[in-house]
Amino acid sequence: MSPPIRFEMRRRTFLAGTASAVVATNIPWSARAQAVSGEAAAPVGPEQTTVTLDVNGEPRRLVVDNRTTLLDVLREHLRLTGTKKGCDHGQCGACTVSVNGERINACLSLAVMHEGDEVTTIEGVGTAERLDPMQQAFLDHDGFQCGYCTPGQICSAKAVLQEIQDGVPSHVTGDLTARIEATEAEIRERMSGNICRCGAYSNILHAITQVAEDGA
Ligand code: FES
Ligand code: FES
Repeated sequence: MSPPIRFEMRRRTFLAGTASAVVATNIPWSARAQAVSGEAAAPVGPEQTTVTLDVNGEPRRLVVDNRTTLLDVLREHLRLTGTKKGCDHGQCGACTVSVNGERINACLSLAVMHEGDEVTTIEGVGTAERLDPMQQAFLDHDGFQCGYCTPGQICSAKAVLQEIQDGVPSHVTGDLTARIEATEAEIRERMSGNICRCGAYSNILHAITQVAEDGA
């Protein structure tokens, strides 16, 4: 094989791979079958997979390297940069999002594991014009300083109150037969996976307690 031919094959493969790697479009569910057959939307090798996600209520389809985390798909492919990358190792909670109603660390989860899943990021929680009660409470109680951890804190806080409401016990739950209350101990324990380097913990606690008391 001569060097020029080998170069041409590599170049073609590279271009196809580059095009497909950046494909991330809003496509109605009904149009998916057609779209998936498109050349630019097809995986170029076994290391790539087509994934369909429902992100903040919108169907999104993209071709990703199998090793791509959900966090990188959200931030780098879908440009939803509200979800933050802090440690990228499951230690800070900055990347917390909701998947099918449960909070997860998006940095610890591969995108290909979420075919068909419903993902809610901070962009889907509320807007500047219509804040979610938890977002408003964080504002009212100064539950942040630099704000970097805040999207993860808010996504986690909403899930915490839902978990308490659903009767999911934590390590500090005493009586497993009684109704679980949103006490300071319960909230602190359940939010312990969300680190705030600014140390806004007391105000974050006040914000979450406020939402719990309001029953919002
Ligand atoms: S970035 Fe995911 S836990 Fe820190
Ligand atoms: S507000 Fe700065 S890290 Fe939490």
